[in-house]
Amino acid sequence: SDNGVDNNGDVSGVELDAVHRAVAREPWYHQTLSIVVVGASGDLAKKKTYPSLLNLFEDNLLPEYTVIWGYARSVKTHQQLRDHLFPHLIQTGASEIVVKDFLAKCFYHSGKSYGDEAAYAEMIASIQQFESQSPSPTCNRLFYLAIPPNVFGDSAVAIKQVGMAIGNGSWTRVIIEKPFGRDLETCNELLETLAAELTEDQMYRIDHYLGKEVVQNLLMFRFGNSCWEHMWNRNVIESVTLSFKEPFGTEGRGGYFDNFGIIRDILQNHLLQVLSVVAMEPPLGDDGDSIRNAKLAVLNKMDPISLDDVMLGQYDGYSDDPTIENKDTNCPTYAAIRCWIHTPRWEGVPFLMQAGKALDEKLCEVRVRFKPPTTLKSIGANNATKLCSNELVFRLQPNPSLELHNNIKTPGLPSNPMASIMKMNYEEMPNLSNPDAYTRLLLDVLRGKQGSFVRDDELRRSWELFSPLLHSIERDNIRPKPYVYGSKGPADRHRWFDEMGKSQD
Ligand code: NDP
Ligand code: BG6
Repeated sequence: SDNGVDNNGDVSGVELDAVHRAVAREPWYHQTLSIVVVGASGDLAKKKTYPSLLNLFEDNLLPEYTVIWGYARSVKTHQQLRDHLFPHLIQTGASEIVVKDFLAKCFYHSGKSYGDEAAYAEMIASIQQFESQSPSPTCNRLFYLAIPPNVFGDSAVAIKQVGMAIGNGSWTRVIIEKPFGRDLETCNELLETLAAELTEDQMYRIDHYLGKEVVQNLLMFRFGNSCWEHMWNRNVIESVTLSFKEPFGTEGRGGYFDNFGIIRDILQNHLLQVLSVVAMEPPLGDDGDSIRNAKLAVLNKMDPISLDDVMLGQYDGYSDDPTIENKDTNCPTYAAIRCWIHTPRWEGVPFLMQAGKALDEKLCEVRVRFKPPTTLKSIGANNATKLCSNELVFRLQPNPSLELHNNIKTPGLPSNPMASIMKMNYEEMPNLSNPDAYTRLLLDVLRGKQGSFVRDDELRRSWELFSPLLHSIERDNIRPKPYVYGSKGPADRHRWFDEMGKSQD
């Protein structure tokens, strides 16, 4: 076929059919499901959680007997919740009929707090009523904690006390959102609080970057193509750079952001997770633990990040955000970091990560740069000849794509080199259904697939790598370099990248 994906080029039909067939063979799909969105009045719930549940409903990937309860402190009727969600759901492109059918499954209950066991118990009584009428004796429960982390613990206690599914092989699963702490110590506290109530198997820690198509493709791309696996090492690769750029600042989220900063917001979780998939050894299997073991092995071979390997920036006007109290804040809104992975595969190859708010564009990509060619004479070139760097680019967003940057002979009579890009653009695949990260990850939770969720030991290790750096930035009041809103970042970043991006033999 043209795109090599299937024989008729219709990826979505084939892919979705295969998923449906697999799902239809799984017990949970024929059992009863109750979902509780804790924090249903909030931002994440309306923007991500409910729209993703709608996507699954529309694609017929939720069990027939499903009910969705929202819980929060705000007082609302069922109808008020539905009216609040409607505009966000209709934006997904689903028809009004589908949205209304979906909303008919949505109910709401409020409580005084996130630890209000009596209120949870009232809601659970309604769920039990629904379960008692369902044809399947097995009734599973999924709790999505779309709330700030300071109330994760209270919610977990309440769920454990009054919310767990009981008997007939039923399961209870709880989805938790970042931030998972501010450093190693607070992460450990959070892990302990939650572990007192829930087992590791019951917890699904979302890092939505693991649900993006291009990241999900990394396993297949690396291990399904022998050509890449042979090249995926220090002999051939010069450096790996992961970049995250957003063209807007904190915009109203300054209160949260100033307490966290770009390192905690993006690098310690999203980019480090992607890095561990790019760098890992082949997992022993495709089950969740094999994948997470392979990722953890990468993190275990890295050193804690040193301040010498970091460049920090803050965009001009950042502290003008009225939600930021400390006007002399040193909170970085841009950070570039170099790290090394001490394995036979990667020794000496710099891994660079940069993330920034208020930059010139929206972009997230992984750039694998190959070493320059050595036999220049045979192509009539010398050290002065301009050859482009061979790079393999995984573009997560916007316009997800894979690109290979090559030198070709300038077509026609000239024989000098010319840069050329071989590109696979996801958006050009006919009828591709490319659900968003949250939709994929929610389906994984229902299917009990833990591979794209962060395990406790991975999380601890990620904080071990970043906490010393974060503490010294705060303790020593390290000042970030200023940069202009909408620019590419601090002025001397080119020099920094040139210096830091050199491999060490
Ligand atoms: P919100 O601030 O919107 O909070 C969700 C709900 O929790 C609110 O509607 C409110 O409901 C309740 N709440 C808010 N503050 C407090 C508080 N201090 N104490 C008790 N309850 C409170 O958060 P988001 O929806 O934005 O985020 C939820 C979780 O998801 C957080 O952990 C966040 O870090 C994470 N996240 C969010 C993203 C997003 O795009 N929004 C992206 C990635 C992660 P009520 O008053 O009705 O009880
Ligand atoms: C969140 C961060 O985790 O990821 C936000 O808290 C950031 O600051 C967002 O904007 C980016 O996600 P995406 O999917 O839009 O790239």
